Amino acid sequence: MKPYRLAVIPGDGIGQEVIPAGVEVLRAIAAKQGTFAFEIESFDWGSDHYRRHGVMMPADGLDQLRRFDAIYFGSVGDPEIPDHITLWGLRLAICQSFDQYANVRPARLLPGIEGPLRKGKLDCVIVRENSEGEYAGQGGRSHRGLPEEVATEVSIFTRRGVERIMRFAFDLAMTRRRHLTVVTKSNAQRHGMVLWDEIAREVATDFPDVEVRFELVDAMTTTFVLKPESIDVVVATNLHADILSDLASALSGSMGIGPTANLDPERRFPSMFEPIHGSAFDIMGKGIANPLGSFWTGALLLDHLGEAAAAKALMTAIEEVTASGGPRTPDLGGQAGTADVTEAVLSAIAAG
Ligand code: IPM
Ligand code: MG
Repeated sequence: MKPYRLAVIPGDGIGQEVIPAGVEVLRAIAAKQGTFAFEIESFDWGSDHYRRHGVMMPADGLDQLRRFDAIYFGSVGDPEIPDHITLWGLRLAICQSFDQYANVRPARLLPGIEGPLRKGKLDCVIVRENSEGEYAGQGGRSHRGLPEEVATEVSIFTRRGVERIMRFAFDLAMTRRRHLTVVTKSNAQRHGMVLWDEIAREVATDFPDVEVRFELVDAMTTTFVLKPESIDVVVATNLHADILSDLASALSGSMGIGPTANLDPERRFPSMFEPIHGSAFDIMGKGIANPLGSFWTGALLLDHLGEAAAAKALMTAIEEVTASGGPRTPDLGGQAGTADVTEAVLSAIAAG
């Protein structure tokens, strides 16, 4: 029996509801496969920890996480604490310190789910550069509060950073429909974005079988809505892909469905897996959060651990529940609760 050490950080808001559901499902899939098991440790880090201790996680938090095979993460964000404190104190601290430079976000209409689009089928993966760009954290503020106050927020694009995410995206395109859309804003942003386009062209010569399309980010929003079927793999900067992935998530029926992997493809550090939806304080504590995003995230986690059969079995169970008109949470137009959807997926796993 292969043991995997899994760090679980439910975090804030509905993370505390959907992650325990996801852990149940992950344990069930492991039991069903019978070849591996999870050794799970939970961490109560997040905004409540901040209220008690003044920090989102302990000073040695990253050292504690380092020894795990993967991190299963809920969300951060709290109405009482500024977002930039909660985010940089936990989620971004983990992503950046563990050099999880590839943020991978599949989006597709699961069977039985109706998206907002009348035509066109969405089945894509957004590859988001996750270590630099607009999130590099460079900049500062001077003359606070004075009329002369100035703030800078500097985007950083390095050849190394752009090349590695490009190679990752091309590799991924090779495993799918062999089509890659390189998204930039190189008409207006003529330094970093032009470097991005140039490196894409260089890397493309190593992948002659991948068809490459260059698209500006504003135009890309219309492509998502009007021609979703033309999109396979998308590679974009940290901020551009952040925005596009919310759009893709909404087009796949609900923000409650989409998964995310924050990967260190070189496996020097643990990678981190989280649903895309965030803390969703408006529905917290009501038991109605959609756990499908966490379950799909679990499938990405299994894939990363090399448990492809288990990942597939989990996706099949999820799709059986969506296709068969099984229970639906309110974000999908139903009245079921988190527990009902979890039960249905657990039954599908048991029957699978
Ligand atoms: C996401 C979120 C985060 C991001 C926020 C919460 C910082 O929007 O995971 O897409 O922009 O990275
Ligand atoms: Mg986002």
